[in-house]
Amino acid sequence: MNPHDQQITALLAQLHQALESPATTHGLARTLRAAVKEVELHRHHRVSVTALPDGVLKPSSTKVQIGGGGHRIDGFFNIDIVPPADLLWDVRESIPLADASTETVFSEHFLEHIDYPRSAKHYAHEAHRVLAPGGQLITGVPDAAFILNQYPASPDRADEMIERWYAKRNCRGDINTYLDLINYVFRDQDDDPTYNPHYWAYDHEKLTQLFTETGFTSVEPWAFDPTMANPKRQWASIYVVATKRQEP
Ligand SMILES: C[S@@+](CC[C@H](N)C(=O)[O-])C[C@H]1O[C@@H](n2cnc3c(N)ncnc32)[C@H](O)[C@@H]1O
Repeated sequence: MNPHDQQITALLAQLHQALESPATTHGLARTLRAAVKEVELHRHHRVSVTALPDGVLKPSSTKVQIGGGGHRIDGFFNIDIVPPADLLWDVRESIPLADASTETVFSEHFLEHIDYPRSAKHYAHEAHRVLAPGGQLITGVPDAAFILNQYPASPDRADEMIERWYAKRNCRGDINTYLDLINYVFRDQDDDPTYNPHYWAYDHEKLTQLFTETGFTSVEPWAFDPTMANPKRQWASIYVVATKRQEP
């Protein structure tokens, strides 16, 4: 193991030790848990970096899904920072594919989980770089406009949204007003170590700005295709398709 990875392993042990100490306060524990999570992600990434020294992979498909989690798409190569992806990779660093090698880059409910502007803009540039001319970047995110436009909303509306979005989470004791749901769109469960928090909220205008600034020639609404996208994401999400310029 190289010195960096040795250092990271020792750091992880120290973080766990500090978390177990009764002297550790709530605020410090939150930060330590976040650090543990980040260090674990870093270790996944480092294993792949070591196996891919030039940082360029030749995937089994020219269609790539980023941040798909457990939602695999037939015919796509899946890159995520946690299993069960085909490649574990921290996309905040790069997309480890050759220039102009890819037909489609697809992600849903991923972009809001990386920091803006640094990582979101870097991701957009990397997607543009790896796409072939005419290639498509398809992006779905929670639609901030959808939820903000309905505020103030009735308790029934809040109930419906909790049921549709968070039925599996045991959160109703604390998350039960419409404003709680707005908070969720902007930060999600940032104190639960099993979830990646949301770092930035998007609407059509913001996605269009992000991708046109990067060099994509058009950004259009994407017609939801449940054979590709996760059907449970359709409601209250916005999907766009950004197209890379065809060569003259
Ligand atoms: C909310 S889940 C969405 C999963 C799936 N797309 C869906 O809609 O059901 C966010 C996914 O993004 C992945 N992710 C977050 N940050 C990442 C990063 N820096 N690099 C690669 N994947 C990341 C997470 O591991 C997780 O699988």
